[in-house]
Amino acid sequence: MKIAVLPGDGIGPEIVAQAVNVLTGLNLNLEMTEAPIGGAGYEAAGDPLPDATLKLAKEADAVLLGAVGDWKYDKLERHLRPERGLLRIRKELNLFANLRPALLYPELASASTLKPEVVSGLDIMIVRELTGDIYFGQPRGISTLENGEREGINTMRYSESEIKRIGRVAFEIAMKRNKKVCSVDKANVLETTELWRQVMIELSKEYPEVELSHMYVDNAAMQLIRAPKQFDVMVTGNIFGDILSDEASMLTGSIGMLPSASLDANNKGMYEPSHGSAPDIAGKNIANPLATILSAAMMLRYTFNDEANATRIESAVKKALADGYRTADIYTEGTKKVTCSEMGEAVLSALKS
Ligand code: IPM
Ligand code: MG
Repeated sequence: MKIAVLPGDGIGPEIVAQAVNVLTGLNLNLEMTEAPIGGAGYEAAGDPLPDATLKLAKEADAVLLGAVGDWKYDKLERHLRPERGLLRIRKELNLFANLRPALLYPELASASTLKPEVVSGLDIMIVRELTGDIYFGQPRGISTLENGEREGINTMRYSESEIKRIGRVAFEIAMKRNKKVCSVDKANVLETTELWRQVMIELSKEYPEVELSHMYVDNAAMQLIRAPKQFDVMVTGNIFGDILSDEASMLTGSIGMLPSASLDANNKGMYEPSHGSAPDIAGKNIANPLATILSAAMMLRYTFNDEANATRIESAVKKALADGYRTADIYTEGTKKVTCSEMGEAVLSALKS
């Protein structure tokens, strides 16, 4: 099983190192090869997605990614910026289905900024479309109008087939869970999402057991804070999913807890924490590696069909939390504050115990 390991920027290398240690600790037959992406790709080859990195990722069965981005690249031309590397690899590998599970570990109920009774037992799967929408729609750009004023343009667009294939992913996942799908749109204002809603309704006829509901994105943002446990599977477009998944992560105590899987039609996938590169804490060994470690578990589950080892990693994370280990972002009084590498070691020793 070939894994392309792309640590990226900021805290990326530290957190990926811990996930690699955990994967190695499973003693599976994994061939892991590292390559640069994002700012690291720009430094190495003048391109946030170097050709060699893309080739490695295409040939691999799965990709493990840290994070990309650093303020020091903000002045580069847009196509050279770290984020372009991430968006391009998603597009090049056709990773249209982004799964972001927001799961509250009971030990972290008090780490959330919300009341424990609001979040305890929380288990939401956010299914975010990842290769369409305003992220990729043409026309786009900044141009100068006749009167000399500048204008910025982005285009929100979705074709029927794009909506259908992500809808199908959401319905299939719901069938294995509580059989509820909430489709999030802004159909009262945006035609793109009016079509989104129509297609979801049509598709739902193929899944009579699944209860489909619809919610406007502004209401969904509010409901996630008010009563998050009403949700099972949420399905939405690229931009709304980007925003709602960050919001949902805070229900779980910290954005440092939220893993993700980005899958193509054949379950080849790229696995990365939902959080960013956090350049402000990079190199200090204080980042939370759990989202990346849990992403590695998702890799075993979705790409390698190895439910047993996926569960082993998840149980080891639970054990490390139950034993009181906390990185700074999830620390509460009475628990043990540890570094990024110490947290990785705690998971690894739980794995082996
Ligand atoms: C995410 C990130 C990315 C996105 C950025 C880094 C381009 O926020 O994975 O959610 O907007 O998709
Ligand atoms: Mg985001």
